This record gives sequence, C-alpha cells and structure tokens, in this order.
Amino acid sequence: MEPIEIAKGIYNVGAVDWNIRDFHGYSTHNGTTYNAFLIVDEKIVLIDTVKKPFFDQLIENISRIVDPRKIDYVISNHTEMDHSGGLPRVMHRIGEDKPIYCSKIGEKNLAKHFSQKWNYQAVENGGTLSLGRRTLQFLETRMLHWPDSMFTYLVEDKILFSSDGFGQHYAGPEKFDDQVGDAIMIHAKKYFANILLLYSANVLKLMETVNEFGLEFNMICPDHGIIWRKDPKKILDAYVEWSQQKSGQKVLVVYDTMWNSTEQMAEKIAEGVSREGVEVRPMNLRHCHRSDVMTEVMDARAVVIGSPTLNNNVFPTVSDFLTYMKGLKPKNKIGAVFGSYGWSGEAAGVIKSELEGMKFTMIDPGLKIQYVPDQEGNEACIEFGRKIGKAVKT
Ligand code: FEO
Repeated sequence: MEPIEIAKGIYNVGAVDWNIRDFHGYSTHNGTTYNAFLIVDEKIVLIDTVKKPFFDQLIENISRIVDPRKIDYVISNHTEMDHSGGLPRVMHRIGEDKPIYCSKIGEKNLAKHFSQKWNYQAVENGGTLSLGRRTLQFLETRMLHWPDSMFTYLVEDKILFSSDGFGQHYAGPEKFDDQVGDAIMIHAKKYFANILLLYSANVLKLMETVNEFGLEFNMICPDHGIIWRKDPKKILDAYVEWSQQKSGQKVLVVYDTMWNSTEQMAEKIAEGVSREGVEVRPMNLRHCHRSDVMTEVMDARAVVIGSPTLNNNVFPTVSDFLTYMKGLKPKNKIGAVFGSYGWSGEAAGVIKSELEGMKFTMIDPGLKIQYVPDQEGNEACIEFGRKIGKAVKT
C-alpha cells in the first residue's frame, strides 16, 4: 500500500496483509490491514506501527513523506503485536531515545514485550501533547480490548485514532467508508462480535465519556480496515446497538454431525422454527468457522446447539465452539440442545451445563434421538423447533 493522505499533513503509512486468513483463531476471509498514521506538523509523530513482517512496507511509506529520523514522537495506542511488532526496528531507525507516548499499563506491557528501556512517556487520561499547530489528546480505553489500550484524538482536526476500536479485518481497494458503502458493516460487526463483545459494558461507558467530553469526530481512524470519514456516526451508533446486546427474532442452530443424524435433526428443528414464522439459520461447525458463527450469535435471540455423542462427550468442533463462545460472554440468549447418540448420549447434557454456565435461559431439557431419526423422531424435532420459535416470540 502506498501512503495515503487522509487529511492535510496526515497520512496512513500502514501495511496491507492481503493473504492472512487466520488471525489468532478469527477467520479473515478478506485479509486485513495494519494502519499506522504519520502526522506532519511542527513536530512529526507516528501513531502505532505494524506487524513485524510488514516493517519494510511501513518504513518505505514513511520515507516517501519524510526522513524517518525526523520523527519526533511515537504514540503506542496498544501493545498487541499487530501494532507494536514493528516498534523495535522503528526505534532503531528513528533513534532509540525518541519518546514513546503510551498509557501507564502500555509502558509496563511494552517493557515486558520487548525488554527495552526506551524513553517511555506514560500519559494521563485526557492528557495532551502539542505538535505545534495541532494538539493530541489521549483517552484511556482500558479493556478495549487490552488493559493498555488507549485512543488518541487530534483536537483541531477532530480526528480519532481509535486503535482496534471501530476496526474491521478487511483489505480491499477501498480505503474509506464512502468508497465501500454498507458492505463494510458485516466486517465491522464480525470484528465487534469476536473481539469486543465481552467488553460491551466498557464500550457503552466509552460512549458516555465521548458525550460527556462533547467530542466530535470528523474522521475515525482504526488500526484495521477502512477509515470512517463520511459518516463516523454510523459506526458509533452500531457500537451502541451491538453493546446493548439486544436481538431480533432470530434462531441459530449450531451443530456438527457424524453420520448425518444430528444434521437431520438440525434441519427438522430449523423447519419447526420456520413454521413459527421466525428467522432461522442452521450452521454446521465443520463448514462454518467459529468466528462466523459468533457473528451470527451476536444478534440471535436463541442459540440451539447440537452434537452427536462421541466417546461419552461432545464432538470436538462443538467443544471448540462452546469454549470460544463462553469467552466472548454473549448475553440475553435463549438456549436449547439436541443430538443423536448410539448408546450413552451424554453430549446434550454436557452442552446444556455449558450453556447454563453462560447464563442462557434454557427452554427445554434437550432433545436426544438414538441413532437415526425416524418419522416420529422427525416430528419430535419439528415440534422442538416450534417450541423454540414460540419462545423467541414471547
Ligand atoms: Fe489489532 Fe488488539 O490488536
């Protein structure tokens, strides 16, 4: 990616990772970007770096604008290595004594990541740094999504550099929201569902702070994906909605299958839900990535999970998904369980316990069918689906 001037004297000098398809367990079908921002004022500042293998792209982009040695300050909004991995080589290039502005926890975390005694300048929430004609203000955003996370606000231009917040794993020809349109929202939603959902309360608190400080945004620049310049309010409003964890009348049927019996049950359950006039989406975990399923969980009212019993337990893919979902702490969900079994049939009970542990409202003890569902079994599944459909309508 060439550097892009996003506003006068402000550049995205980051890198595009076209081919990444697995971002620590999150499927990135469209790759991603590691945005980093250079502000050229009386002082020159670099906000964040890039993942380590992309250092050359970063430094080439910076060099097209200024000699990297002229950078006066580095801002580290977040320690995670997709934004800090390039930092050691950046510091070596620009001068090891240059100040790095970060949160207090950021200072500790950078030291633990890189074992370097750099010139850390820990900032206060609301603290400022003058660049000459312009001013940076730092906003502590602890647990959005790491303890060290902070945002940086360019006061005069009303531009927010929001680290992971409002990001999307998306690499494409478009660089701004007005170029890609609403198609970007599914990527933003997936990002929220898989990275930020468990911090929903912190997001709502952040929105209150934004209102309290009366902050206005001409542009929101996340470290991943496109920049919001046409309608920053769109993503702010979406974050409020997603954080509230309200859901429509949607049922998700998540399952895996050994000999298609649990799949047959899933399809009949979905048929029953549909007969109640409720939207339903079956997702087979062998074909749907956990992070795509989680995106659908976010606005589903009911999550119905099915597994065959394998060696007295749940199928490994189902176990994987339960672990993943548990960590993301979805709220306000109805739960139900089902599965085919041969002789012992523990899987449904194991899943039920897991969902109860996640505070799902269970509407049924669960539907288990031995071996292959016959006509009576199919009808039981349809009835089970109708019961779920009715529950989400109340
Ligand atoms: Fe994009 Fe939390 O790193």
